[in-house]
Amino acid sequence: MLKKLNSTSQTELNAPVAVKVASVDKIFPTQSGQNILALKNVSLDIKEGEFVAVVGPSGCGKSTLMRIVCGLDRATNGSVYVGNQLVRAPGDDVGVVFQNAVLLPWLDVRGNILLPVDLKGRRSTADEERLQELLKMTRLEGFDSKYPFELSGGMKQRVAICRALMCEPSLLVMDEPFGALDAMTRESMNLELMRICAETNATVMFITHSVAEAVLIADRVAVMTARPGEIAEIIDIDIPRPRDLSVFSLERFNVYTTRIRELLGAETIV
Ligand SMILES: Nc1ncnc2c1ncn2[C@@H]1O[C@H](COP(=O)(O)OP(=O)(O)OP(=O)(O)O)[C@@H](O)[C@H]1O
Ligand SMILES: [Mg+2]
Repeated sequence: MLKKLNSTSQTELNAPVAVKVASVDKIFPTQSGQNILALKNVSLDIKEGEFVAVVGPSGCGKSTLMRIVCGLDRATNGSVYVGNQLVRAPGDDVGVVFQNAVLLPWLDVRGNILLPVDLKGRRSTADEERLQELLKMTRLEGFDSKYPFELSGGMKQRVAICRALMCEPSLLVMDEPFGALDAMTRESMNLELMRICAETNATVMFITHSVAEAVLIADRVAVMTARPGEIAEIIDIDIPRPRDLSVFSLERFNVYTTRIRELLGAETIV
């Protein structure tokens, strides 16, 4: 069963820390022998059930940070904890969604979503129930035997989200998951993601280029500087939930987006 939130309020103030990024540096050696300092002294705590968006100019190290949090890459200095565990390798309890839905073309929707279960062993009745629940939640009911080439971009991304949620990860890490979608699909995916998060109480680290998207969906927005990527400021988004697109016309929305754009300077994209 999906974990239910018993209130529509934002993250509890005293919630335990789900992700701890502590003084992380990342240096990439290059063939020319010149090292690239991609991340510099990045620290960020994300509480259980909290939705944190990370924005920053292209090349500032957002994907690098995401890979380090997921255990797909190692920090040069500093450490990352998910729950109480030091991250050393990709963990079972982290769901990852990449910019382009990475689906296996020879598997149908059902096979793609159940992939993490199949990789671990045999499907149980509970897995089938959870699959049906996720299909319903993402409005993909009736599409379970379709193949990726039969789906729209938004549908593929929803399948990727279902797959990431299949094993009830304590943490969902998303790297510009809606970057390739048109504006309308993107807005409806934002609303759907907020609904899914409210229903599952997932902790989310969400990377985006879009300042408006970050303010619409996040509890806090971490703004990064250009390379070497540092956290310039973390902004609390004090807009009550549930939220919908009317958020865009709030005075507070403009205050937040203006502040973030100031921090990003001329490099802001959206
Ligand atoms: N494997 C690597 N080897 C060398 N340099 C790398 C490597 N991966 C990333 N970099 C460099 O580190 C910096 C940060 O890259 P990263 O992909 O994390 O940026 P980003 O913020 O995700 O950018 P974008 O918004 O364009 O996706 C860039 O300068 C990039 O060239
Ligand atoms: Mg990136």
